[in-house]
Amino acid sequence: MDRRSEAPAATLDVRDLRMRYGTKDVLAGVTFSAQQGEVLALLGPNGAGKTTTIEILEGFRARSAGDVAVLGTDPERGDEAWRARLGVVQQSWRDHKLWRVRELLAYQARFYAPFATADVARPWDVDELIDVVGLSESANAKIVTLSGGLRRRLDLAIGIVGRPEVAFLDEPTAGLDPHARRDFHDLVHRLSDFEHTTIVMTTHDLDEAENVADRILVLDEGRIVADGSADQLARELTTAAEVRWTSGGQRHVHAVRDGDPSDFVRDLLAKHADVTELEVRRVSLEDTYMALVQRAESGLSRRGGKPDPTTPKASKGQA
Ligand SMILES: Nc1ncnc2c1ncn2[C@@H]1O[C@H](COP(=O)(O)OP(=O)(O)O)[C@@H](O)[C@H]1O
Ligand SMILES: [Mg+2]
Repeated sequence: MDRRSEAPAATLDVRDLRMRYGTKDVLAGVTFSAQQGEVLALLGPNGAGKTTTIEILEGFRARSAGDVAVLGTDPERGDEAWRARLGVVQQSWRDHKLWRVRELLAYQARFYAPFATADVARPWDVDELIDVVGLSESANAKIVTLSGGLRRRLDLAIGIVGRPEVAFLDEPTAGLDPHARRDFHDLVHRLSDFEHTTIVMTTHDLDEAENVADRILVLDEGRIVADGSADQLARELTTAAEVRWTSGGQRHVHAVRDGDPSDFVRDLLAKHADVTELEVRRVSLEDTYMALVQRAESGLSRRGGKPDPTTPKASKGQA
């Protein structure tokens, strides 16, 4: 029996969420929802507000404004029974060094026992969980001896030992090599496929978001600027094309934001007989995201009238 099949309400419902630290608006109206079993990637550069968002959903931070429901409950009013239905993997866990893997999981697991229901067997059987996350060979190892990849699997196991309906993972693969990262993605998929766990995972890496998520939410300057599958994102965010050419002995670049670049090219050729080295290139999703990251890192604000991320950079040196 699928214990969650009769719940049609959104697992997460976030409307116009705002967060202000001092005078700084970090979240300026974030709206999204998620259904049971979806894997969401919250993607954005460092400082975009990913941790803030996720901690508000977990009930660890009080928001400034907006409506938030997680499993139908406002996180600011969630009780222990509600909390037992969530799984949390924080950005960094560096404690419990001298504990052994199985020992720590068994200890954590006990806290969930009172919250078992007729439908949900809580906690997870520890040995089964150790097997699921691929830690069988390390079950008796001291935590301090685990590699980065194994440590993150343990973090995940700690996060899900209560068989959560929603799991929040904050940059769970930061610092992992590509192989360990792929293993971790497989694990996330298994959780959503077999346990129907709703997963919200943050990352600043577009590749990772494309690999792991059913849906990607791009957070930029406190707002969701795109929400969809990787394909939808590519269509939504990358309407721009670059046209490059040489004329009058100079290299030129022009960004076409809307419509078909052919119109611009036709016009260009009609006006300038000496055009050579003509090139038309669609801006890729990678280009767009990279521009957004660069802008975030340089501290420039789009709202301050600074460069739009969909505008391709002028070619090196000339234009
Ligand atoms: N407790 C806090 N007090 C003041 N500013 C904060 C606090 N937490 C985060 N910030 C600021 O809010 C912004 C978003 O931070 P954060 O949510 O950690 O972003 P991300 O996880 O996307 O890197 C950053 O500019 C950060 O410096
Ligand atoms: Mg963060």
